[in-house]
Amino acid sequence: MDGLAATGLLALLLLLLLLISRFRRCRLLGEPPLDKGFVPWLGHALEFGKDAGKFLSAMKQKHGDIFTIKAAGKFITVLLDPRSYDAVLWESRCKLDFGQYARLLMDRMFDVRLPDYDPNAEKVMLRATLQNKNLPSLTKAMLFNLQTVLLSDPNKANRQWEEEGLFHLAYSTMFRAGYLTLYGNESKDYDDVSSRAKDLVHSLEVYHEFYKLDRLLMKAARSMLSAAEKKAFSSIKKNLWKLLSVKSLNCRANRSVWLESYQQHLVDLGVDEDMQTRAMLLQLWSTQSNAGPAVFWLLLFLLKHPSARAAVQGEVEGILRTRRQTMGQMQITNQEVLDNTPIFDSALNETLRLTAAPFISREVLQDMPLRLASGRECSLRKGDRLCLFPFISPQMDSEIYEEPEKFKYNRFLNSDGTEKTDFYKEGEKLKYYNMPWGAGINVCIGKFYAVNSIKQCVFLLLSHFDLELKDPDTKIPDFDKERYGFGMLQPENDVIIRYRQKDQ
Ligand code: HEM
Repeated sequence: MDGLAATGLLALLLLLLLLISRFRRCRLLGEPPLDKGFVPWLGHALEFGKDAGKFLSAMKQKHGDIFTIKAAGKFITVLLDPRSYDAVLWESRCKLDFGQYARLLMDRMFDVRLPDYDPNAEKVMLRATLQNKNLPSLTKAMLFNLQTVLLSDPNKANRQWEEEGLFHLAYSTMFRAGYLTLYGNESKDYDDVSSRAKDLVHSLEVYHEFYKLDRLLMKAARSMLSAAEKKAFSSIKKNLWKLLSVKSLNCRANRSVWLESYQQHLVDLGVDEDMQTRAMLLQLWSTQSNAGPAVFWLLLFLLKHPSARAAVQGEVEGILRTRRQTMGQMQITNQEVLDNTPIFDSALNETLRLTAAPFISREVLQDMPLRLASGRECSLRKGDRLCLFPFISPQMDSEIYEEPEKFKYNRFLNSDGTEKTDFYKEGEKLKYYNMPWGAGINVCIGKFYAVNSIKQCVFLLLSHFDLELKDPDTKIPDFDKERYGFGMLQPENDVIIRYRQKDQ
């Protein structure tokens, strides 16, 4: 045997030993319960990918609030006690890293590879463009663009009853208006009829392509696309890259500060134009994939709960009635007005509690102890992943919420009409009792703009349209279970509604 072959054999043996030792992994003293499943290497990957909500609830029943599972060769420690979340959320990045997994997903889903990518620095820079002094102009632009999509579309303005899927209506409306707000309009003048018509056509084209992509993204994130799906996925991405090319974005008017800053950031990183375009598609998903589904669930809950709808509608009409003479719809760009809707806010928080299910993930970079709220210490192993899943607890935890599976629009309201913020687990007041926006470094940087946009969209729909379920007995659909872990959940099937524009 020559030297080269011997080295090859040795490397193979070492790899085999490594694989065996990994498969043989045993729980050490101080480590969380370990559940490897029965399938070598795969472990629990299939159950986890198919319905993470159900799988992790069953694991919690079996093992308690912290356990380690194996999925596709990776060991994932899952923590489900919100009282212990702070120990993870604020741990230093040299122990629990947030960027590694983000980088992997960016590449898998969007073919984005950025040199010297630092998610923390990027978040800090982008946060300023979506909040504080930049929020009023975004909120104003969003109202104009929502009016374009909802009120200037001749298909919607004919005062005839129309039938449409509520999910489709909500997602397309929020996506199109949100896209125009961040990525810009055809011309500077919002009132120009022909540029509004062009905005309608262009935003619909982007939405159609984006929606096709969105159907395949979860499988892409899990590397589960079939050969045919891979082909379709790649061609949809190419179409979207054309629509979002640097050249076409540079021609747009009313570009947001967010867009300008992000483009400049990519140029500063030395990223070429093709990669800039790919990054723009990634950002389109980050910024536009959650608010539409949130509007869908909120409207659906309101349509299924007449008392909730009456309360929210009463609040909206109150705002528009008292101020109509002076400022009309511009009222709903005024932050003071938008911040003064406690009933709506409670209904939205309740909606998000029931339907927002992001994972918060970290790579464990060194062996380390994790101190839990109970005082117990758990050992984490270098190379594993740590994952929080607030959807199970606090959001659906029956120790925190009575009848957690039910929609109660006033759950987050005190009897005096102020926001309720005191929720308890085993007698202990909770810091994290509802986490649709993530927390710590994983908090949504677009939260304030998102809340304003959702409010504006629902206000416009409730005040300008008669809206009803086609079949009042229709059931609230199940979740599309593939989507656990990626933000807002989507329904398994759409719900048909009837709507028509009111005579104003
Ligand atoms: C109901 C609506 C929304 C929900 C529930 C939501 C939730 C979240 C969550 C949980 C994260 C944290 C991801 C992580 O770091 O692990 C996040 C990140 C983010 N959100 Fe939102 N979001 C919403 C709407 C929006 C909107 C409208 C914008 C638009 C500007 C936005 C912009 C972002 C951005 C830029 C990030 C950072 C993504 C990254 O780290 O690359 N979000 N969002």
